[in-house]
Amino acid sequence: MKGVILAGGTGSRLFPSTKVTNKHLIPVFDRPMIMYPIQTLKNSGVRDILIITSSHNAGDFLRLLGSGQEYGVNLTYKIQDGSGGIAQALSLAEDFAGNDNIAVLLGDNIFESEFTEDFFNFKSGARIFIKHVDDPERFGVVEIGEAGLVRSIEEKPALPKSNFAQTGLFLYDNKVFDYIRDLKPSERGEFEITDVNKIYLENNELTASRVDGMWIDAGTHESLLEASILAQEAFDPAKIKELRAKKALKKAARENKLVTAGLVTQNSEKYIIPALESLTNQDYENLEIVIFDNHSTDSTVEIIRENFPEIKVIESAKNVGFARGHNTILNETEGDLYACLNIDMIFNQNFISELVKAINEKPVYGAAGGKIKFWDFASFAKGSTSQGKTNFIDTVGLKILKSHRFEDIGQGEMDYGQFDKSREIFGVSGAAVLYRRKSLEDVAFINENEEKEYFDESMFMYKEDIDLAYRLQWAGWKTNYNPKAIAYHDRTISARGKTALEIIKNRINKPKEVNRRSYLNHRLLLQKNFSNAFSSEIKNATALYNLKVFLYILVFETELLGVWWNIFKMRNRIQKWRKKMPRRVTEKEIERLMHE
Ligand code: DAU
Repeated sequence: MKGVILAGGTGSRLFPSTKVTNKHLIPVFDRPMIMYPIQTLKNSGVRDILIITSSHNAGDFLRLLGSGQEYGVNLTYKIQDGSGGIAQALSLAEDFAGNDNIAVLLGDNIFESEFTEDFFNFKSGARIFIKHVDDPERFGVVEIGEAGLVRSIEEKPALPKSNFAQTGLFLYDNKVFDYIRDLKPSERGEFEITDVNKIYLENNELTASRVDGMWIDAGTHESLLEASILAQEAFDPAKIKELRAKKALKKAARENKLVTAGLVTQNSEKYIIPALESLTNQDYENLEIVIFDNHSTDSTVEIIRENFPEIKVIESAKNVGFARGHNTILNETEGDLYACLNIDMIFNQNFISELVKAINEKPVYGAAGGKIKFWDFASFAKGSTSQGKTNFIDTVGLKILKSHRFEDIGQGEMDYGQFDKSREIFGVSGAAVLYRRKSLEDVAFINENEEKEYFDESMFMYKEDIDLAYRLQWAGWKTNYNPKAIAYHDRTISARGKTALEIIKNRINKPKEVNRRSYLNHRLLLQKNFSNAFSSEIKNATALYNLKVFLYILVFETELLGVWWNIFKMRNRIQKWRKKMPRRVTEKEIERLMHE
C-alpha cells in the first residue's frame, strides 16, 4: 500500500492566514498541519508517500520535510496546477501508484487512531472511513443501510440523510484513475472525490469503516483552533477524558431538546383535564405546554388556569382559526421541536419522547408522527376502566393518492399490528405531529404584514396539515412514523363513506361550512403544490377527480361554486407562495410517494 497526501487547494476558508502560505504549513499546536497525516500513514504501516501540493509554496514543503528520512518515510512530491478539486489532485498520483493500492489522506485531516488493520485487510474496490458528527452538512454525507452497507453518499447536502461524515481518508484500488478520467466537474467546478466514491458505490465496490477516536478536519478557523487544543491534549489522557465527557454532555443536551407542545382550544372544556393531565405527565423532561384559546365562551380558560397554572395560555379576542393559533404559538416560543396537538386527545406517557426519538433518527426528518387510535370519549366520561381507549385506528399518517386525494392511513381499521413498523410517510395529521423548528422555518411564508405563517392562515382550518406536509416534501424534508408513539383521538368528523350514496349522505349531514372549507382548502393546496411537470398519469388522475367533484357540486352543492371566486381573489398570494417555497426535490421523487 502506498500513501498519497493531498495538500493543494487554495485554503480559502482560512483566509487571510492562507494568503501567503499553504494551509498545510500552518501550525496545529506545535507543528505544521502536514506532519499529522504523515504520522497517521506511518503509524498505519505506509512508508512510500506522495505529497501533492500547489506550485505556490512547493519549496517550503521541501525545506520542511526533505526526503522524509528524518520522519522515517520516503517522500515524493508532485505539483497540482490550479485547484480543480480533490479528484483532480489525486489523478496526478497514477504513475506513483503503479500497480499498488493507495491510501489517500486529505492534508487537513487529523486522526487520533491508526489504521494498520484496515490497510492490511484491504484488497480491492474502495473503502471510506466514516464518523458520526453534529454538522454533517459540512462534509460528504454517508447513509448506511442494512448490514452496514453504504446506501448513498452526497457531497455537502443542504438536508443530510444521516449524521455520518466521510472523513478525508480513502483506500482505492488501481481502477480509481480510470474512474477519475470519466468524471465531470461538479456545479462548483471541481472534480469531486464523492463522485469517485459514487462510481464505486454503483459498482457495489464501496465499503465503509467507522473511525475510532477523535477526527478533525482542520479546514476552518474554528476547527483549526479545536485541532490545536486536541493535539495539545493528546499528550494528556486525563484531558481527553474530560473532553469526551463534555462531548457526551453536549450530546445529551441535543437529545433532550426543548419541545413546545402547542394546542389550540375553542369551547373545549370537557377535554381539558384528561388531555392536559396526560400531557403534564409525559416522561419527556424538556417539555413546555402553550395553549392558544380561540375565544372560548365556556369555561375552557378558567379550567386550565385553575388546574394547570404552569401552562401558558394566550387568549384571543376572537376566533382566528387553527392555523393562526398555531402560528402565534410558534412565533412566541423557541422550542427546537414543535408538537402540534389537538385537545380532544389523551396521550400515552412516552408519546412525546417516542416522537422525539423518531425525529432525531436522521437530520432530514422534518416531522414525525405516531399511531393515533380512536378515543371513545363517551365511555371515558362514564368512567370506563380503559379510559375509553379503543383498539381502532384513527390515523397512522397521511397518504397522498395519484388523484391528489388525501387519506388518513388505517382509519377505521382494527389495530392488529399491521402498522407496527417504523417507516417514512408523506405527512402526519395535524391532530398530533412533531415538527422540527428548522424545517418549519424553511417553509414558512412571510405574509403581507411581515408575519411568519407556518400553517397557511387563509386556510383557517382543515387540510392546512396536508398543505404543510406537501411543502415540507417539496423542500426535501422527510417524515418518520414511530408506532411506539401512541395517543387516542375523539375524532368528530365522520368517515367519508365507501359507496357513492354513503359519501353523498355523509356530506349532506356535515355542516355546510365544513364542506365549503374543505373544498376551498383542497383547491388552495393544489394551486400551491401541484406541478405541471408531474407525469401524465398523475395529471390525468387529478384532472379526472377534480372533474368528478366539480360535476357533483354542479348537481348537489351549487353554493360551493363561490369558492372559485375566493380562489380568484387570492391569486396573488398563491403566486407568492409558489415562488417563495423551496423546491429541492424532483416531481419524480414526489410521485414515488403517491398511491393508487
Ligand atoms: O475532511 C473531509 C471532507 O473533505 C469530506 O467529508 C468531503 O467529502 C470532501 O469533499 C472534503 O471536503 P472539504 O470541503 O473539507 O475539502 P477541501 O476543499 O477543504 O479539500 C480537502 C483537502 O484536499 C485540502 O486540505 C487540500 C486538498 N485539495 C483540495 C482541492 C480542492 C487539493 O489537494 N487540491 C484541490 O484542488
